[in-house]
Amino acid sequence: MNSENPQINFSLIDEEFQKNPPEVMTQLRKHCPVHHTKIPAPHFTLTRAEDVIRSLRDERTWSSLYGPGLAFGKAGDGVLVSSDPPEHTRERLAIASIFKPSVINRMEKDIRKLTNKLVDEFGNRTQGDLIQDYAMPIPLTVMCWLLGTPVADIEKFRNWVLPMAEAVSYSGGREASKETRQAYSEFFAYFENHITNRIDQIAEKEDVPNDLLTRLLTVERDGLRLTSKEVLGFCQFLLVAGSETTTLLIGNVIYRLLEFPEQMQNLLDDNNLLSNAIEESLRYDAPVHGLFRTNTCPVTLHNVNIPTGSKVYMMFGAANRDPDLWEEADEFKISRNAIDLKKHAAFGVGTHYCLGAPLARLEATIALETIITRLPSLRLNGIPKGVEAGVLKGFEEIPVCWDL
Ligand code: HEM
Repeated sequence: MNSENPQINFSLIDEEFQKNPPEVMTQLRKHCPVHHTKIPAPHFTLTRAEDVIRSLRDERTWSSLYGPGLAFGKAGDGVLVSSDPPEHTRERLAIASIFKPSVINRMEKDIRKLTNKLVDEFGNRTQGDLIQDYAMPIPLTVMCWLLGTPVADIEKFRNWVLPMAEAVSYSGGREASKETRQAYSEFFAYFENHITNRIDQIAEKEDVPNDLLTRLLTVERDGLRLTSKEVLGFCQFLLVAGSETTTLLIGNVIYRLLEFPEQMQNLLDDNNLLSNAIEESLRYDAPVHGLFRTNTCPVTLHNVNIPTGSKVYMMFGAANRDPDLWEEADEFKISRNAIDLKKHAAFGVGTHYCLGAPLARLEATIALETIITRLPSLRLNGIPKGVEAGVLKGFEEIPVCWDL
């Protein structure tokens, strides 16, 4: 039991929380809107939609400079998600055009081919694991296209992303565990080499691939380029932030539709609800429960003093289930008003709003559409296994079966 909040036992690495996050979030929102714990390292947690959204919009008070994880990063070492204006503005403007929906939508045909190929590969099987066989390879393959690595290397990437994501909720950051340290060192060895090769290719003007990596290395804004160290940090961030999260989204939305067959029926009756199903999944099961900020001045909220320089967990997932913002917040309903639905906080709020949101939405929509079209008899076939990384919500395995 946490001595500072005797009535509510919460820490990101707590099993009770992992088992039923929405229940714990409800307790926190109701009884302890500013929660403090020292486990696994001192931090505060905000859960009410109003507090989370207002704080995320006030980046002067709530800085990203020490990173989005629980561990204090070294100020100035990180890119984008670990930076504040004006550096953040410079970096974001430099790469925002790469993620524009008009650019991303050009990938639609290839993603559709990929999802169909994965279903083709099920062959004569009538059972499998929705995550390992389907939800995971989609974003990892797209990431290989973006970063110009061989698609066969997704096997390597698979082993790095979860340990790296896990590090976000531990006090030691990338030092968290032997597995995490190994994932980081393998990642850095691989990508340092890959980026150096690409820089040489660009310098020698040899058939340079026109992908995200080339654009990161050549993009110029106000006469400034991203350094190769910044590009390396960005690739690491992208691999975790862009692939694992999208895998979780694909798994979460299909899982909920199988869990609530009447919602699946609504979707089958009206394919126009595809995008609503994705948004409702993002609201109901935000793949990232929350991320951290560090306050630049003392803050008092709900009579709790938050000293300058505290790590504060902004819980997107709890804001998404706040009954002050959402009617029947704990119901999964894909028929909610499409405009209201987009107000969920699953992609963050304010200046750090997810740049990859159009890509994640496209991948998830195509993945869901392919599954309901090609495997209409898909059903659960056992107990799914949840992910263990504290800041993430979703599954590592979902056993499913289908008829041929
Ligand atoms: C369902 C999938 C995804 C979820 C739930 C998600 C969630 C988030 C969240 C919550 C943030 C805000 C971080 C903060 O406030 O500190 C963020 C930022 C970001 N995301 Fe995503 N993301 C997803 C997919 C992607 C993809 C596919 C990419 C790129 C390929 C991507 C790239 C980024 C980038 C570059 C930022 C940093 C923006 C900035 O700091 O200005 N994300 N994402």
